[in-house]
Amino acid sequence: MSIDSIRTVCLLGGTGFVGHHIITRLIARGMKVRVLSRRPHRHRDLLVNPEVDLVEGSVHDPDTLARQFEGQDAVINLVGILNERGHNGAGFRAAHVDLTEKALAAAEQQGVRRFLQMSALKADMDDPPSHYLRTKAEAERAVLASTAFPVTVFRPSVIFGREDSFLNRFATLLRFAPVMPLARAHARFAPVYVGDVADHFVDALEDVETHGQGFELCGPHVYTLGELVRYVGRLTGHRRLVVPLPDWAGALQASVLEFVPGKPLSRDNFASLGVDSVCESTMQLPCPTRLETIAPEYLGGGREARKQERRTHLRQVDRG
Ligand SMILES: NC(=O)c1ccc[n+]([C@@H]2O[C@H](COP(=O)([O-])OP(=O)(O)OC[C@H]3O[C@@H](n4cnc5c(N)ncnc54)[C@H](OP(=O)(O)O)[C@@H]3O)[C@@H](O)[C@H]2O)c1
Repeated sequence: MSIDSIRTVCLLGGTGFVGHHIITRLIARGMKVRVLSRRPHRHRDLLVNPEVDLVEGSVHDPDTLARQFEGQDAVINLVGILNERGHNGAGFRAAHVDLTEKALAAAEQQGVRRFLQMSALKADMDDPPSHYLRTKAEAERAVLASTAFPVTVFRPSVIFGREDSFLNRFATLLRFAPVMPLARAHARFAPVYVGDVADHFVDALEDVETHGQGFELCGPHVYTLGELVRYVGRLTGHRRLVVPLPDWAGALQASVLEFVPGKPLSRDNFASLGVDSVCESTMQLPCPTRLETIAPEYLGGGREARKQERRTHLRQVDRG
């Protein structure tokens, strides 16, 4: 299959951080993009591009999925959550497994010809330790078992870029916390640039070599969580004492923060952090962009000004 045969792509979860980057690239390659969203009014910035069809609808409803997949050459499923409302894994199952199964069925029903799935690094390990990883694993198994169309699965480590939630969250915490007691400070990550991740998704649409495969995506360097938090502190000018917590105290911290609005750290997050998020398989794609090249652009000063610029832009879209 060549990329010429993929003209229309429907994204689930396309309104998020990674989705924005994939959409920009799809459009640059002349494709028409449909984005299904539960709350499209929050993502009106996507409408500046006439090639984007932003549709309101529940991605959990099979009929909606079938309607929106009609006439689409490819589906990209990016839906993922780091925290669920409850505590028993049902929310992760609904967002990762059930939704993926519905999307696969609707895509088959509508004759979609390509399906790309966002998973997470270590989802394919034996006996993953968290609901997040277990349900990502189950979802990717369902995708890889599909025979209706060629499929590809991507498993990135933590993803960085201007709108990321990972480094930006620590930037916010460091601004207010006099010291940073840090659970799993020795957990290792290979942060990968969102632009590299998005490139691989879009490239895969035309690449038959990726059919039926799962790929790990890692940046060029490995850091501990403690190193990353200290780095964010240096960039933002909020250097704080980072205190690594022993696991018993980290688990306690997670079981308290799980009940704080926004769940800054849940027990499930804590369990996921028990596994190093670094690439180990031979099935890796190159992601060469260094953290140190990009992070200073959005964490090192001027960030408030850019947020203000974005608010002004949204107000202008609102008005007109
Ligand atoms: N960011 C990372 O560091 C990272 C690392 C590894 C893997 N991943 C995976 O990459 C994917 C994209 O990540 P991201 O950072 O772009 O996420 P994001 O910014 O949170 O966006 C995800 C999108 O999914 C939709 N969504 C969220 N919860 C949902 C739910 N319960 N049901 C239906 N739709 C829901 C939302 O769209 P609407 O609100 O518009 O419906 C949201 O815009 C996810 O699958 C994530 O697990 C991310």
